[in-house]
Amino acid sequence: MKLIDGKQTAQDLKKDIAVEVADFIRQYGRRPHLAAVLVGEDPASQTYVRNKEKDCKEVGMDSSLYKFPDTITREELISCVQTINDDPEIDGLIVQLPLPDHLDAQEIIETIDPSKDVDGFHPVNVGRMVLGLPSFVSATPAGIADLLEYYKIPTQGKECVIIGRSNIVGKPLANLLSQKGPGGDCTVTLCHSRTKELDKICRRADILIAALGRPGFLKANMVKEGAVVIDVGISRVEDKNTKSGFRLAGDVDFEQVAPRCSYITPVPGGVGPMTRVSLLKNTLKAALKHIK
Ligand code: GUN
Repeated sequence: MKLIDGKQTAQDLKKDIAVEVADFIRQYGRRPHLAAVLVGEDPASQTYVRNKEKDCKEVGMDSSLYKFPDTITREELISCVQTINDDPEIDGLIVQLPLPDHLDAQEIIETIDPSKDVDGFHPVNVGRMVLGLPSFVSATPAGIADLLEYYKIPTQGKECVIIGRSNIVGKPLANLLSQKGPGGDCTVTLCHSRTKELDKICRRADILIAALGRPGFLKANMVKEGAVVIDVGISRVEDKNTKSGFRLAGDVDFEQVAPRCSYITPVPGGVGPMTRVSLLKNTLKAALKHIK
């Protein structure tokens, strides 16, 4: 069993991005700039946004945070997104999810200028990605694809099973891995809460991806010997033995599953850091696009 070290891979890729950012600054006299919009006090969202700002700094990009209380109205939030859309200094814009219940996340996403939608959540980008056209691919699927490439894990003709059909991970990932060409060409099965005989389907997988958000869900009896297992889950579970009172847990029962795998990602330190790198890559891509 080989552990896929997402943290180290992300560190390596960030070095390459930093070089490209330095080139960009030399050529165009300004830094690529990512704006994050954060509504409310959700601790996980606050951590994610803080990390994104830290990543930007590390590779030489600018970042700004637009922070609002969860009492913000739909009109105020849309107005903020439009202001960022119109700001020529800002290349990429993300609205951190989830949003409070009184706000319709889809409506807000659809107000983002697709050329600044570095999360790849806007229907224009999702549609273009499905068609295999140049687009912003959402960060987690892109990060997983990069991780498979970095570890030279072949995808062509492989059976790939994804558990979880979210708009952010499962659905785009199924599309990405079944695209024609390098990094794709998988035979993909997308499973969800209504899937029958899930265990049996999972045992078919050469590449098994758990993205359902249920800690420890994937057990050893669901994994074929020698499979590649990618754990997208990252849940906070109570743990009285830690200082914070919680720990981060993936969707895979790591202790049970790891011995059966050829490769496996840990949580934390697997997919998470790669997601953050994808956002940086998309922001640089947006900045280059805006220059042109
Ligand atoms: N919440 C959880 N993951 C993400 C993400 O990739 N982007 C945004 N905007 N919000 C999220």
